[in-house]
Amino acid sequence: MKIGNLQKVIVGMIILFFATAGSLQAAGYDHEVEAKNITFAWKVEGDSLAVKLSAETEGWVAIGFNPVKEMKGANLILGYVKDGKVTLEDDFGSGENSHKSDSKLDGTSDVTVVGGEEKDGWTTIEFTIPLDSGDKNDTKIDVNGENTVLLAYGGGLDSFFVKHKYRTALKVNLSTGASHKLH
Ligand code: HEM
Repeated sequence: MKIGNLQKVIVGMIILFFATAGSLQAAGYDHEVEAKNITFAWKVEGDSLAVKLSAETEGWVAIGFNPVKEMKGANLILGYVKDGKVTLEDDFGSGENSHKSDSKLDGTSDVTVVGGEEKDGWTTIEFTIPLDSGDKNDTKIDVNGENTVLLAYGGGLDSFFVKHKYRTALKVNLSTGASHKLH
């Protein structure tokens, strides 16, 4: 290889390095909280919240925002990955111990799939939701202050009808990342 070509290759490699580093950073999240074998990472993107949920399960993983009591009134997003395909559902805490899809409650599905995978017994889903969808079945998400955040995951089945294997409720400040467990 001539010196001129070698220089071109080196310059190309440097450009590729910085382009890759830039895109990795863009794909990142600003904050993360962790409970027992479940993590919630997030980043505010304009009028939306970008979320990454990972849990040690081959079944569903879910997050809920701002319930009135237990699951009631919460803006819930549930998801699983089956044969590489991500399925997400935008639900509402219709009772303290029950939930229904927003679309079955005269509302709208307001979740956008970004990605997901099931690997080594862990399920990861990535999605965005509006901070204020306008749907009566979604609570507003306050990115400048504290929100009650429910985290849960099911057992091994890719079905939203099976109950959680683990669930917890946290207070999370979405702006600072500070969090504490409620119970
Ligand atoms: C998939 C179907 C689901 C069923 C059948 C179900 C059922 C229940 C039941 C019976 C309880 C009462 C306490 C207990 O037995 O543990 C409960 C509590 C709870 N659930 Fe669910 N749940 C489901 C999905 C979810 C989802 C998607 C979330 C949130 C991401 C969630 C979060 C919670 C939390 C945090 C509590 C405790 C609330 C508290 O103590 O304040 N659940 N659920």
